[in-house]
Amino acid sequence: MNHNDHVRLLQNGVPRPGGVWADLGAGEGAFTLALAALIGPGGEIYAVDRDGRALQSLTKQMHRAFPHVTLHTVQADFTRPLALPPLDGVVMANSLHFVANKGPVLSHVKGYLKEAHGRLLIVEYNSDQGNHWVPYPFSYQTWRKLAQQAGFGHTEQLATYPSRFLHEIYAALSR
Ligand SMILES: C[S@@+](CC[C@H](N)C(=O)[O-])C[C@H]1O[C@@H](n2cnc3c(N)ncnc32)[C@H](O)[C@@H]1O
Repeated sequence: MNHNDHVRLLQNGVPRPGGVWADLGAGEGAFTLALAALIGPGGEIYAVDRDGRALQSLTKQMHRAFPHVTLHTVQADFTRPLALPPLDGVVMANSLHFVANKGPVLSHVKGYLKEAHGRLLIVEYNSDQGNHWVPYPFSYQTWRKLAQQAGFGHTEQLATYPSRFLHEIYAALSR
């Protein structure tokens, strides 16, 4: 997958330029950079990860590729409450599958989003069978149920991408 593939997975979930977003479990920022491309200059992103080295790498790439997007890096555990401003959207790409009990995390995420139009974009392997690298994955069908239980009233699949590892990747929007 390259940058354009990352953008394609997210693009129908980002309705307008600008806004304040967070990427939880941003890592080196494959999807943070895709989000930056979609929200454009004037947009603001909080990239959260417990791996400080990955956040440093993301910062360099962001300054090089999208200097007019404001990036805040937060080295923290996203399973704990975070001090974030009201958000237009949250991206969680390949990060929620590290969490066994997803309910409490989703409840925090829901609390970060603006009441009226906040959106959660998920990118995950379309599988319910975990392994050593992806311990607690969830298929799109499972995600629909989890999102509903967490209080998201609407969930839709945005795009898929074939993957030799665990079959397929999907992007979903919940709001
Ligand atoms: C597989 S990488 C995905 C990175 C990026 N989102 C992507 O899709 O390329 C998972 C990232 O989530 C981070 N992560 C996992 N659990 C976390 C937690 N509880 N708090 C903060 N970061 C976490 C890891 O440090 C890692 O950078």
